[in-house]
Amino acid sequence: MGYKYLLVISLFAFLLSCGTGRVDEKNHMPQQKPEKAGKAVITIGVVAPITGQTATFGKSTREGVILAFEQIENKITLDGKEYKINVVFADDQGSPEAAVSAYNKLITHDKVLAIIGTVQSNCSLAGAPLAQKHKVPMISTASTNPKVTQTGDFIFRACFIDPFQGKVMAKYAIENLKLKTAAVIFDNANDYSKGLAEVFKKTYEELGGKVVSYQPFPGEDKTKDFSPLLTQIKSAKPELIFAPCYYQAAAQIAIQAKKLGLAVPILGGDGFDSPKLVEVGQKDVEGLTFSNHYSKDTPSTQVKQFVADYEKKFNSTPDALAVLSYDASKILIDALKRAGKPDSEAIKKALTETKDLEVVSGKITFDAERNPIKSAAILQIKNGKQVYITTVNP
Ligand code: PHE
Repeated sequence: MGYKYLLVISLFAFLLSCGTGRVDEKNHMPQQKPEKAGKAVITIGVVAPITGQTATFGKSTREGVILAFEQIENKITLDGKEYKINVVFADDQGSPEAAVSAYNKLITHDKVLAIIGTVQSNCSLAGAPLAQKHKVPMISTASTNPKVTQTGDFIFRACFIDPFQGKVMAKYAIENLKLKTAAVIFDNANDYSKGLAEVFKKTYEELGGKVVSYQPFPGEDKTKDFSPLLTQIKSAKPELIFAPCYYQAAAQIAIQAKKLGLAVPILGGDGFDSPKLVEVGQKDVEGLTFSNHYSKDTPSTQVKQFVADYEKKFNSTPDALAVLSYDASKILIDALKRAGKPDSEAIKKALTETKDLEVVSGKITFDAERNPIKSAAILQIKNGKQVYITTVNP
């Protein structure tokens, strides 16, 4: 009974947060102004695709953030003064246009002190210039394209970057799988997919492999039929396919490749990580192998504790997005404490000085471009489950 009731409530809260840049209306409060009761408030914005083709990214983000702030009871004491933390979610729908509205809404209407998010590189690249312009510290949870943090000194991220994960997968293909010819199929409209395709190709060829087919498509939301591209790929006879896409396109590519009798291993990056990959692709995604930000099977106390807390609260296994949004929240909370005041310049400075901060996905110290240096896990789908293969250090 109690559980069902909770489910209904969370569904209602979830629905409330949907829509372009829409936020939880009842949570609007001017930044740092005292409430009637005399308590000061800090408002933190969170951007993620809560609806749209990549909505599992949004669901996991939401849950990771909620868990992190609940653990500090949504409050923080800075220089002896207690602040209530108000978290406001905004939906970017996985689209750069909607991302701009979401960032604008959080910055100008909700007057957030900092932003956690967003997930996809194409959306972070649209939102980051706004955060930078208004001097709002931003920590992207999962955007791996290098250009995101190059936007400016207020932009940070909680994840590794594509030049690293692209190399990890190219090396894995050549050194572990010993496959010397590859086809690459990627979304030409998303810097994540395009950038990862480029790094993979470059490293793969440096290591002695040959990319025999290189196939761009114009946007995951627009492309449903991959068979013309896959037919071209088939005629080039690659030994493997590298498909740096998100989970919906990845599942479709796997399904349609099997239909065409193109039965070679499919590799990809972190965008494969969603429970929907297996739900949509079923037996056709068996064997898909990808780099990721964490594995729940990593033998670390931080991971074990997080997985246990998360499973207890949400009754599901956390994916990489849940971990990275939890970690981004922890990075922000740590910086806030060290800043000692709710001031964006002070928070930015404290973020820059983050050193060896232990979070679930690793240890955080930012380099000169505000990227943390972290390891990647390689995972494979086996019997419908993600199986941990190995960890690759930078
Ligand atoms: N790295 C992806 C991007 O930059 C986003 C992503 C991260 C998706 C982790 C799934 C898991 O667009």
